[in-house]
Amino acid sequence: MADTITLRRPDDWHVHLRDGAMMAAVLPCTAARFARAIVMPNLVPPVTTIAAARAYRARILAALPAGADFTPLMTCYLTDEAEPAEIARGYAEGDFAAVKLYPAHATTNSAHGVTDFDRVMPVFESMAAIGMPLLIHGESTDPDVDVFDREAVFIERTLDRLRRRIPELRIVLEHITTAEAADYVASGGANLAATITAHHLMINRNAIFQGGIRPHLYCLPIAKREKHRLALRRAATSGDAHFFLGTDSAPHAIPTKETSCGCAGIFTAAGALELYAEVFEEEGALDRFEAFASLNGPAFYRLPVNEARITLRRAAYTVPAQIGEGALALAPFRGGEMLRWRAE
Ligand code: DOR
Ligand code: ZN
Repeated sequence: MADTITLRRPDDWHVHLRDGAMMAAVLPCTAARFARAIVMPNLVPPVTTIAAARAYRARILAALPAGADFTPLMTCYLTDEAEPAEIARGYAEGDFAAVKLYPAHATTNSAHGVTDFDRVMPVFESMAAIGMPLLIHGESTDPDVDVFDREAVFIERTLDRLRRRIPELRIVLEHITTAEAADYVASGGANLAATITAHHLMINRNAIFQGGIRPHLYCLPIAKREKHRLALRRAATSGDAHFFLGTDSAPHAIPTKETSCGCAGIFTAAGALELYAEVFEEEGALDRFEAFASLNGPAFYRLPVNEARITLRRAAYTVPAQIGEGALALAPFRGGEMLRWRAE
């Protein structure tokens, strides 16, 4: 039984760093573990222009702890009014690594998201021509669709049509939660990939209601039945290049979670890599951990792999019970609990 795991430094292909004091509190967690991260643009207001992405990146770099080796990869929040030329220029100049599509009102800060796919078709066509990745929050917003069915319905009614219309468009289906999504992506060819969060590999929907309602386990897409969690574990640990690490770590201050209408989001950054390591060990797949964490993502994004290495040691790591202070205090996933791997 190996007592250390050494791998190329991983990247987090989906994270919410927020801004201001909240960013200052959460950024060290991500920068300590990951060399790069795809930074979500759902700020208020959202990041929709090159100028906004540059300014946000500068704020992230300024908030990094001294000596941190971390590169934020910025994304453009897609709205109905998006200009194909601005997005293409942002990609060419390295200001945007990708575009993020939120169907309007699907989740936190998605009010400015896309209401009509036909309106943004010119953006998709331009992105397909230049190979720019489109990152999709894949949930149907039809109020008649059950919350647990929204991902599968989105694939059937929206994603599959889009891919048939523009097969060259390179798509990451973000934070997949269902067996349907895992199967669809695995058979989707070279222009389709998916991120998988640590929490969706660890909890099913029962956990949200265990002994009472657990607001810190509420996120979107919501965790599904056990059979889906098992399918996600198989996909993540298979070594299949379609799947890679994306935490979707989504911090919300405790008072905005523990309330009558709490925000969606699970904050995993305080133990992200260690959580994934536990899953890969439980599945007997530590030999495939590096592919998922450090190789498959760069391959899809057409970026170099990281040269630096990180070592995880088999030693107790207690996830902090709380990160940040006062009104902005956060409750990390598995906070106060002991994990089996410690990142050095
Ligand atoms: O649970 C979620 N939280 N899902 C999302 O899609 C957004 C995220 C957030 O920004 O808090
Ligand atoms: Zn997210």
